[in-house]
Amino acid sequence: MGIEIMANMKQHKLGWIGIGRMGYAMAERLAKAGCDISVWNRTQSKAEPLVKSGAKVVDNLSDLAGCDIVFTMVSTGKDVKEVLFGASGVTSKRGAPKIVVDSTSISLEESAEIRGKLAEKNIQFLAAPVSGNAKVIKANKLTVVASGPKAAFDAVSPYLDAIGRGSSYVGEGELSRIAKICHNVMLGVVIQNLCEITVLAEKAGMQRHAFLDFLNKSVMGSMFTAYKSPALANLDFHVTFTPQLLLKDIDLGLSSGRTYGVPMPTTSAARDQVQTLIGHGYDQDFSQLILQQAKAAGIELKSENVDMGDGL
Ligand SMILES: NC(=O)c1ccc[n+]([C@@H]2O[C@H](COP(=O)([O-])OP(=O)(O)OC[C@H]3O[C@@H](n4cnc5c(N)ncnc54)[C@H](OP(=O)(O)O)[C@@H]3O)[C@@H](O)[C@H]2O)c1
Repeated sequence: MGIEIMANMKQHKLGWIGIGRMGYAMAERLAKAGCDISVWNRTQSKAEPLVKSGAKVVDNLSDLAGCDIVFTMVSTGKDVKEVLFGASGVTSKRGAPKIVVDSTSISLEESAEIRGKLAEKNIQFLAAPVSGNAKVIKANKLTVVASGPKAAFDAVSPYLDAIGRGSSYVGEGELSRIAKICHNVMLGVVIQNLCEITVLAEKAGMQRHAFLDFLNKSVMGSMFTAYKSPALANLDFHVTFTPQLLLKDIDLGLSSGRTYGVPMPTTSAARDQVQTLIGHGYDQDFSQLILQQAKAAGIELKSENVDMGDGL
């Protein structure tokens, strides 16, 4: 059975562009799943350790032109355009890939522009943003939301599934970018509410970790509440996502709400809290919302120094 899975995973020649925090962990999973994968990174030394997992490292982007499917995971939309269409980009020579899959967090407009340019070259485009960070990928919990031609999704989904916990197809065009914005809006609303109720529990006399332990075991607990609980109990605010980036995504959500005529009252309230957090100069992790909430409730929080695992 193992051999059969390996054979299927070798059905397409894969290329991967961008071996950063996310790209490394994602490409590593494909290599370890037995895929025929060649990787390119601007800073080649970062890609070299992937050889031990079975990946090939190539010197030039054009070396990936013969691949069936090329994945991109770089920083911004401008960077995606550069690696695809730049002077030495992967589509600059003959023999371009059949499908490009982009997981970089980029705007709808940039995504549509890239789709249009690839279509001129007869290349199908799958917009495939992700939920999770590098630690989540290692724990096999990354999820992918994809949009674009259904046939392209069907060809690519075994590889997306091998990268994480599974992939969801939400339709044509740039719909997955909207799904990702909705996802990050929920992140803002949930963290603000989680901070409110945790401060309420503490002010009423509970220890934060004891309350969060109950919540996480309940039907209201989620992978997110469990994953964030150690930070809220121990006031560990090393950055996983900044308040500025969260505000940007909430604003994208509210703007989409206006475009489609959808009221988003809880999102608007959460936005004000995140804006206030930034105005007060909190610049570490967005979970510092708990400090702001405690101040508003007239209490001072102390680290509880408890081991709650990593919640994953
Ligand atoms: N980190 C997260 O938790 C997370 C979660 C979900 C989504 N995302 C999104 O995923 C994307 C990647 O995030 P990351 O955390 O992996 O970032 P990262 O560690 O900074 O990696 C960025 C990668 O892009 C490459 N790159 C950037 N500009 C380039 C250019 N002009 N030409 C060629 N390569 C270029 C970098 O190459 P070098 O190595 O040469 O610099 C590096 O491989 C971002 O859009 C981010 O918003 C991140």
